[in-house]
Amino acid sequence: MRTIDWVPAQGDSPEHIRLIDQTKLPENLVDLRIDSVDTLIDAIRRLAVRGAPALGVAGAMGVALAVRGLPDDPAADPAADRAARAEIDALRAARPTAVNLAWGVDTALAAYDAGGPWAALEAALKVRDDDIAACAAMADRGAELLARLVPGKPELTVMTICNTGALAAVEHGTALGVIEKLHTDGRLARAVACETRPLLQGARLTAWELDRMGARYDLIVDSAAAITLARGGIDAVLVGADRIAANGDTANKIGTFAVALAAQRAGVPFLVVAPESTVDVATPDGDAIHIEDRGTAEVVDFHGVRTAPAGATAVNPAFDVTPVDLITAIVTDTRVVDTAAKETPADKPAPAGPA
Ligand code: MRU
Repeated sequence: MRTIDWVPAQGDSPEHIRLIDQTKLPENLVDLRIDSVDTLIDAIRRLAVRGAPALGVAGAMGVALAVRGLPDDPAADPAADRAARAEIDALRAARPTAVNLAWGVDTALAAYDAGGPWAALEAALKVRDDDIAACAAMADRGAELLARLVPGKPELTVMTICNTGALAAVEHGTALGVIEKLHTDGRLARAVACETRPLLQGARLTAWELDRMGARYDLIVDSAAAITLARGGIDAVLVGADRIAANGDTANKIGTFAVALAAQRAGVPFLVVAPESTVDVATPDGDAIHIEDRGTAEVVDFHGVRTAPAGATAVNPAFDVTPVDLITAIVTDTRVVDTAAKETPADKPAPAGPA
């Protein structure tokens, strides 16, 4: 199962993006066909496709869609080139927090500038393939690190928040990819998944993935994370990231910061698992990260049913920032940044390519 993919032209059907419509899960596993940048932007805003690595792939493939059929030399049709660039700018801005979206867009756009539409498509397919390789590398590295951090325990109980699985990437996930690896290796006792208010990425998506894996898991409401950690029995917390600043401060789904505080109090290792494309050394620290606010409707309604009085307004930050001092280590596809030993992503450069 690929969460997002490029479908080449076949017969009368032009090339397009196919993605799983995550708004329909867990009830229905259905695909969306994306033929235009406008539809892609709408899918991103509605969270039909979401999760930082998947947004990177969507951004890159969206550029390939925008420049499809244009001449190699932009000067041959400047109006079409301008129109495509306007679409690409709107795509880059569709969601602001996950750096992967802008990174994916810029990667494919640079290829278009250098080599035309085919080069953009090749770059987009490489972003997809690199994500598959990166998730495999993170799964191995994360599982190895856990064996060192929690020695002498054949099976681990781990907590997670949001969805960081295949649905947030292409074929396998980041933090949930590590959990899947533990499960496959017979080293997972149980996963504890925070439901992840307000849109329930944990309850709808992570539980769906854990169920398909055949892993043992329990859901908790987000506000039960602190007592669950304080009671003991959680060996590690594994989360993904939307943007990791140069100093290691990490933006991730709203609620992650509270889980990190509770993990520190309980003495439980807190690991961030994310590809190098999520590390943004141009952003110095968490204060400089733009946090998306998704507005009132998602908070005053629950599954289309009004739960707050008419006229109630809400503040709805979709992400928060976990300060680096609460993070035990950052695991990427090429390295482990030992934040507990005061390493930062900026002062420990990544080796080239997935290891
Ligand atoms: O609003 P979402 O569902 O896109 O938020 C996703 C998250 O916060 C994930 O934890 C993050 O993107 C990492 S996904 C591997």
